[in-house]
Amino acid sequence: MPVALALLLALCSLIPIYARSYGVGNVCELGRRPNTRPHSVSILEFGAVGDGKTLNTLAFQNAVFYLKSFADKGGAQLYVPPGRWLTGSFNLTSHLTLFLEKDAVILASQDPSHWQVVDPLPSYGRGIDLPGKRYMSLINGYMLHDVVVTGDNGTIDGQGLLWWDRFNSQSLEHSRPHLVEFVSSENVIVSNLTFLNAPAYTIHSVYCSHVYIHKVTANTSPQSPYTIGIVPDSSENVCIQDSIINMGYDAISLKSGWDEYGISYARPTANVQIRNVYLRAASGSSISFGSEMSGGISDVVVRDAHIHNSLSGIAFRTTTGRGGYMKEIDASNIYMVNVGTAFLANGSFGTHPDSGFDADAFPLVSHIRLHDIVGENISAAGDFFGTKESPFTSVLLSNISLSMKNSGSADDSWQCLFVDGSSESVVPEPCPELKSFDSSYGVAVAL
Ligand SMILES: *[C@@H]1O[C@H](CO)[C@@H](O)[C@H](O)[C@H]1NC(C)=O
Ligand SMILES: *[C@@H]1O[C@H](CO)[C@@H](O)[C@H](O)[C@H]1NC(C)=O
Ligand SMILES: *[C@@H]1O[C@H](CO)[C@@H](O)[C@H](O)[C@H]1NC(C)=O
Ligand SMILES: *[C@@H]1O[C@H](CO)[C@@H](O)[C@H](O)[C@H]1NC(C)=O
Ligand SMILES: *[C@@H]1O[C@H](CO)[C@@H](O)[C@H](O)[C@H]1NC(C)=O
Ligand SMILES: *[C@@H]1O[C@H](CO)[C@@H](O)[C@H](O)[C@H]1NC(C)=O
Repeated sequence: MPVALALLLALCSLIPIYARSYGVGNVCELGRRPNTRPHSVSILEFGAVGDGKTLNTLAFQNAVFYLKSFADKGGAQLYVPPGRWLTGSFNLTSHLTLFLEKDAVILASQDPSHWQVVDPLPSYGRGIDLPGKRYMSLINGYMLHDVVVTGDNGTIDGQGLLWWDRFNSQSLEHSRPHLVEFVSSENVIVSNLTFLNAPAYTIHSVYCSHVYIHKVTANTSPQSPYTIGIVPDSSENVCIQDSIINMGYDAISLKSGWDEYGISYARPTANVQIRNVYLRAASGSSISFGSEMSGGISDVVVRDAHIHNSLSGIAFRTTTGRGGYMKEIDASNIYMVNVGTAFLANGSFGTHPDSGFDADAFPLVSHIRLHDIVGENISAAGDFFGTKESPFTSVLLSNISLSMKNSGSADDSWQCLFVDGSSESVVPEPCPELKSFDSSYGVAVAL
């Protein structure tokens, strides 16, 4: 055998961890197809009034009902002109494009009676805030395909203050609504819009596939309780790209169901790409995994993220009773500034939906790779707390350079318990658990 070929084969055997494609393919290219609909109607044709005061729920519902008849004729666009369009919750339909013109603002009604109450999601068994039912989201897609929510940077404003106050004062009747939610839908695009003040999550996709979210801005106040930007939940083939997200809690959070409900629903979140995002998470994490992850989360690639003013940068959260897994996760080319804990992995995090959880359902956290990361003004580099029954395994850190807020003080930058992995070129120097040579990373020596 020629020497060059032998060398190549030898190298290939070392490649898996570095060149693994994670099967993600080009999920971010899927949303690039042009979206033109042969028919377009304006919300004005359904009697809507854009004065910020008139309730337009019926106009939106009637418009969508009318546009259903175009589903087999190439679909249609519902056009929302400049104005302030107050509405309660409404549903979308397949082959529909909801287009918000520049200076068009859809305003969510602050009267809870304008929000339908619906059953909890089967993979959660109850609402996230409270047991039992939940408010339906403002804009909903249920069992749809080929839906687009876009515009020329129009705005969807959830006016969430009322819901945040009720959450804080424990006076919610049901779990809070989200701003936009797709359930069991395929080929969904959300783009070119600004989302403000979501009551809870801004964009929630659950049991979906082929979801493409790009060029969105999503903001809630840093004080808003547990508001989350984009939540791919039990969904596969998801791309989040070119977006700016500033949230009270997490900016992007990947989930897949809660304890026994998520375990029996068994629908993972897989093949997710997150690229070119600018994130802030005041009291949570800019990118988080879990803590609801009982259906499993795998094959996630994060590239080119700017994370600032966040309690933590990247967090993995789970607890006993969750079951499920978080694995094959690769994050790189990340810049962090003014971040509390750059990397956080907590195996004892979060509560249970009810007492029916399985105390022997241990989550698996493995094959996490964090590399090519620079941080400035970081308070703690990394906290990895696995548990005796389910230690975190195969955590690989490489080419990470964090300048610490209090450099020179006692070195507790990294804290590790029940975790093993390996590292290369990491400053400050990680804890011994993450320095050990792990044979499954045979190539670490060749970095
Ligand atoms: C919207 O869809 C949900 C199903 O997800 C249904 O329960 C509800 O009645 C629909 N609302 C309207 C106004 O069509
Ligand atoms: C997105 O919005 C920009 C302006 O913010 C506009 O120029 C562009 O045409 C929009 N793209 C689409 C696909 O509507
Ligand atoms: C979109 O609109 C928001 C305000 O509604 C503004 O802050 C933002 O800069 C705009 N983005 C673009 C790309 O025009
Ligand atoms: C460093 O980050 C902390 C938040 O972790 C922030 O309060 C502080 O203002 C930052 N310092 C500088 C110099 O930016
Ligand atoms: C893990 O989460 C639990 C529950 O929220 C908390 O009490 C604990 O301090 C966390 N551990 C770390 C290392 O953050
Ligand atoms: C280390 O990471 C930095 C920041 O992402 C990057 O610019 C640099 O090229 C990386 N170095 C190597 C040797 O890969």
